[in-house]
Amino acid sequence: MVAPLKVGIAGLGTVGAEVVRLIEQQARILSARSGRGVRVVAVTARSKAKKRDLDLRGVTWAKNALELAHDPAIDCFVELMGGSGDPALSAIEAALKSGKSVVTANKALIAKHGLRLAKWAEQGDVALNFEAAVGAAIPIIKTLREGLAGTGINRVYGILNGTCNYILSRMEQEGLSFAECLKDAQRLGYAEANPSFDVDGHDTAQKLAILASLAFGTKVAQNAVYVEGISSIKPEDLRAAEELGFRVKLLGVAVRTAKGIEQRVHPTMVPKSSSIAQVMGVTNAVTIDGEGIPPITLVGPGAGGAATASAVVADIVDVARGIRAKPFGRPVERLRATSKAPMERHEGGYYIRLMARDLAGTAATIATRLAQQKISIESIVQRHPDGVDALVANGKASPVPVILVTYATNEDAVHHALEAVQRDKVISGRPQVIRIEKN
Ligand code: HSE
Repeated sequence: MVAPLKVGIAGLGTVGAEVVRLIEQQARILSARSGRGVRVVAVTARSKAKKRDLDLRGVTWAKNALELAHDPAIDCFVELMGGSGDPALSAIEAALKSGKSVVTANKALIAKHGLRLAKWAEQGDVALNFEAAVGAAIPIIKTLREGLAGTGINRVYGILNGTCNYILSRMEQEGLSFAECLKDAQRLGYAEANPSFDVDGHDTAQKLAILASLAFGTKVAQNAVYVEGISSIKPEDLRAAEELGFRVKLLGVAVRTAKGIEQRVHPTMVPKSSSIAQVMGVTNAVTIDGEGIPPITLVGPGAGGAATASAVVADIVDVARGIRAKPFGRPVERLRATSKAPMERHEGGYYIRLMARDLAGTAATIATRLAQQKISIESIVQRHPDGVDALVANGKASPVPVILVTYATNEDAVHHALEAVQRDKVISGRPQVIRIEKN
């Protein structure tokens, strides 16, 4: 009879409390699946007095995370405190160095210190599992690390931030502004305390850096990710996307190109027929293009207590089973350094929305400037906003939206063409440019 796995949990917030509950409620299933019992024997949290509705009888309280990490009575240290540095970092390091396996849901910490921690885990032949750090309940880490261990990966991309997808979905469905939808996301508790972390794309970038490492064997490097958020997206872009057969999503994309691995986060036009385009609201989704197989898309809840706890407990079961996968799918010393791919070299189609002077020759000027950069136009539409006359009394043209979709080109060419169009004074304001990602 194998002894039960003794678990220590640091952090009893929404996720920590849910993990304790799940381990208790699912005790028989966990034991059947791991071949041994799984028991929470010690915990620590900022406030012991806080009402939690948990049965913690017989569970030891450690003074702090570091003390818990050193506790010889536990086999597995579960970090659910959050934060990219201490106290979580020192506690995880201490647990690994003292031969304990670690489970964490902390994407910020793994994105920043994952390699150093993975080295410690490898040296001690213990596990460092972080399934919940990306896409919560979606088993994307395991899919890349184990399920697709025999398959080359060409591209992994997804909706990795529920807040942004919620905002874009509501903007599209209800024609609301970005600011209105952000306010609602905050009211509903989806957005992080600092909403900029979500809407400016940094949360997605941390998750993408982790996925890129698993997919391509690169060192996790958040600073190798090009990042652009969603705050410039307007309801008119979403309406135009709809008419053109696209949807706008904040995507994290890691792709193998002839020039290296490109990692980028930005608002993206995806074909309305694609799996990823169907994903609305706070739901997350990841698509993997593997060599020789059609794309695989995983869809599910990317945040929340129950969804995150589901992945944390699965990681604990792996520890109980004795699985010791290399945290990033291969030894840390075999991971390759990676740097930020210059976006000027990015190749793809582009959606461009311009406010153009509605006079003879404007379309010709725009087309000429694009042609000079060898950009081929797939479609061009000019809209007359309802009730607006093209010509105002003094003979000046009022600007009208012109929407272009280009065939594949490179970003440098798009910038040069648009700079020339601006110099020609046939448009007003800054052009809106959104990259298109084909499936
Ligand atoms: N703020 C994140 C989101 C939570 O909106 O998806 C999960 O990382």
